[in-house]
Amino acid sequence: MLGRLAEQPADKILSLMQDFAADPRGDKLDLGVGVYRDDAGITPVMGAIKQAELALWEVQKSKSYTGLAGDPAFAAALGDLVLGDAAGRDRRAAIATPGGTGAVRQGLELVGLAAPEATVWVPEPSWPNHLSILAHLGRPHRTYRYYDPATGAVDADGMAADLAGLAKGDVVLLHGCCHNPTGADPDMALWEKIADLLSERGAIPMVDLAYQGFGDGLDADVAGLRHLARQLPEMLIATSCSKNFGLYRERVGLLVALAPDAATARRAQGTLEHLNRQNYSFPPDHGARLVTMVLTDRPLRNAWQQELAHMRDRIRDLRGTLAEELRRQTNSDRFDVLAAQKGMFSRLPATPDQVATMRRGHGIYMVGDGRVNLAGLTTKTVPQLARAMVAAGF
Ligand code: LMR
Repeated sequence: MLGRLAEQPADKILSLMQDFAADPRGDKLDLGVGVYRDDAGITPVMGAIKQAELALWEVQKSKSYTGLAGDPAFAAALGDLVLGDAAGRDRRAAIATPGGTGAVRQGLELVGLAAPEATVWVPEPSWPNHLSILAHLGRPHRTYRYYDPATGAVDADGMAADLAGLAKGDVVLLHGCCHNPTGADPDMALWEKIADLLSERGAIPMVDLAYQGFGDGLDADVAGLRHLARQLPEMLIATSCSKNFGLYRERVGLLVALAPDAATARRAQGTLEHLNRQNYSFPPDHGARLVTMVLTDRPLRNAWQQELAHMRDRIRDLRGTLAEELRRQTNSDRFDVLAAQKGMFSRLPATPDQVATMRRGHGIYMVGDGRVNLAGLTTKTVPQLARAMVAAGF
């Protein structure tokens, strides 16, 4: 049996981690996988999480099973963080999942159960695993135009033209904020247009929210998502605590299905729990419990928000410094847009040869499509990146 297995293609993002680790150069620079790093190049355990871990060690008396949906207090606290007052808890069905990827996967499985004929529309470009999971599940899918490399902003006209092809019941995948891989987000006027378009067509948004708090702020980053929740009867939200709580390896995610009414939400809840049971029974609890403790304890929550604000400010400052450095070194304003984009990622206008030159010649690792994780830079390495880009003919 095993001999019949085909070779799987290497994951474009995760394979970079291994290549980077194997590179012996001391001045190499990892701008690949999307993890936050501080100015010393460390991905820290956040202070509020450390405190919650200590407290949990003291108070936790049992590690027996929770429920199939995970601890309801987690879904309530994280659901409130995402949705605010845009959708009451009675409209929400939710399950804890292993990370944001687990939430995306369970959301797409839910689509398969409820509407197997629905096409899932994915922005071009998107996080590569979106298309990979869709192909793995055999769900009908296609892409819509999203990014205009000439302006570094969302291609609103291309997007609207492509989404005019939506059929009733189709699902539109959107990034809640800090678009991966481009850093180009819709402004509020465009979110309003998206809501109108989806409403006219009877389509359902599925929002992948992996970076809440990394763009403009915890509430500002979900203003568009909350508008969709107010305007549309149904929505799926796949959210992750990997980045904003720094809980990457603990695998903390939540899938929310917003229903038009409480009775439908209850039915959706049963299906979500069934999906958890089929795939892994109970979702991981440790990280989710830490998140709940942080969100429901005022001093811990304040400490977490401050630390998150510091991370956000650091990324924004790095963006500004890099844009300035590139303006100085290239004598042009071509890279000013880096300062306007949001979150960890931007996509540099790199040819495959330039990506290879950056890696081979300069030890700078970026994803093959030119995506860079700006949170992998430090104040010291910004000029190093700019110099290498100029030398590689950017
Ligand atoms: C990324 O885009 O680099 C992260 O979301 C990590 C991953 O799982 O791909």
